[in-house]
Amino acid sequence: MQRVATGIPGLDPLLNGGIPQGSSVLIGGASGTGKSILAMQYIYESALKGEPGLFVTTESGVKNIAWDMQSFNWDINSLQEKKMMAINRMNLGYANDARVVVERIKEELDLIARAVNDMHAQRLAIDSTTSFAVWMEKTEFRPKLFEFLDWLKDLNCTTIFTAETSGAKTDFSAYGVEEFVADGVIALYFTPPNRSIFVRKMRGTAHDKNVHPFEITNRGIEIKPREQVLWEAIK
Ligand SMILES: Nc1ncnc2c1ncn2[C@@H]1O[C@H](COP(=O)(O)OP(=O)(O)OP(=O)(O)O)[C@@H](O)[C@H]1O
Ligand SMILES: [Mg+2]
Repeated sequence: MQRVATGIPGLDPLLNGGIPQGSSVLIGGASGTGKSILAMQYIYESALKGEPGLFVTTESGVKNIAWDMQSFNWDINSLQEKKMMAINRMNLGYANDARVVVERIKEELDLIARAVNDMHAQRLAIDSTTSFAVWMEKTEFRPKLFEFLDWLKDLNCTTIFTAETSGAKTDFSAYGVEEFVADGVIALYFTPPNRSIFVRKMRGTAHDKNVHPFEITNRGIEIKPREQVLWEAIK
């Protein structure tokens, strides 16, 4: 099995080297836990290694994402010029009618898969799935997400997607369906002043089962794989 090393400091040792290629991994956490930064860093690290990556935002503007990335001193301009990375916005429009929005979401997902194909992206990040899932019934969201992730697997793209949680420590997604569709689940916590991370599941590989502290520094996320946090310490 091929693995995709994320390049995020301290994460790959928790995954026995990386995410199994073609997998989709959910990053779940409450607001401010670091989901977006982790997703951005995944694409940046990919581009640095010469593997094209696509970052799709559903919540911010493309410029805001670029500024956030540059605030970590990541030189994304040259990587974008070299077509090693791209930032796209998933445009849901402003319709009031849920049926119209759902049709739009489906079209946008098709466009994302096409963009992955066109740029030969090996990695994709979608931040977040919660903002479009909110428009769909669970019975529709689950098969659509499954179909989309399956399509990416066919393209050999390794995907991470974020979802908001209530903050309860055994909540891994917003709708309770995303974690079953995903091949892997990584949970982020912020119990002030401490941040922590753990791998809830990763199909097809053994993985670390402990909770580990991490920091967000002026270079991005840094996980401490040799330090542990007690499950009871997470609130
Ligand atoms: N340069 C930095 N140095 C240290 N911490 C930072 C820096 N930039 C951002 N942060 C921390 O990261 C947090 C934001 O992380 P991020 O945007 O990834 O959260 P999120 O989980 O995506 O939240 P949301 O669900 O609201 O989108 C900030 O609230 C701040 O605590
Ligand atoms: Mg975010």
